[in-house]
Amino acid sequence: MQHFNIAIDGPAGAGKSTIAKAAAERLGFIYVDTGAMYRAMALYFLRQGIGPAEESRIAAACGQVDITIRYENGIQQVLLNGENVSGLIRDEAVGNMASATSVYLPVREKLVELQKQLAAREDVVMDGRDIGTCVLPHAQVKIYLTASVEERARRRCLELQKKGQEADLENIQETIRQRDYRDMHRENSPLVQAEDAVLVDTSDLTVDEVIARILEIAAEKGIKAKK
Ligand code: DC
Repeated sequence: MQHFNIAIDGPAGAGKSTIAKAAAERLGFIYVDTGAMYRAMALYFLRQGIGPAEESRIAAACGQVDITIRYENGIQQVLLNGENVSGLIRDEAVGNMASATSVYLPVREKLVELQKQLAAREDVVMDGRDIGTCVLPHAQVKIYLTASVEERARRRCLELQKKGQEADLENIQETIRQRDYRDMHRENSPLVQAEDAVLVDTSDLTVDEVIARILEIAAEKGIKAKK
């Protein structure tokens, strides 16, 4: 049976996970957060004391890492060699390490294979950087979700402040710019809008407006919301 695949790509902080999660729920699909897989690999490298530029150590370490995805009450859990690391991969250091180490082919090959297998088994909304271009080139729906650097930094700032953490807008903007540059200019599967992806700029839209837009695009392809 052919499954429905919805690919959502875009830069860090564009709102991909919030939107993809909500759209998946409305459609009755599984949400696959591929960034979490790169983050789990990055956590392994950090724990091993491997630096982001140590390409041969990273390639060798790939053979020792097993990443598994499991769902608990519909929420994705990422297992690193059997350990549930979902709560340990969200900080800035792991995100930056994931961005730096996702440039290497052995890292990508391992995770892309796992992502393809998941999408072949289920109806999925999958978000990442290379989903529409590399992982699911035949996805029925492709979205390129973006927002201005200023808006993405503002959202991140608010998020940190809500958690009671310090947030410097200028610093956050600079980190986002660097991450964008690295994700968009790497040799292997850089972040680009797929030719057949629909561009959705979320800078001036509310979360509900973006979700409605995604469901509208899906409906045009014959995928109807269940809720
Ligand atoms: O979406 P995120 O911030 O959790 O992703 C962390 C890093 O992982 C991101 O900066 C680049 C990398 N990544 C990737 O290369 N390909 C993907 N499909 C998803 C994430």
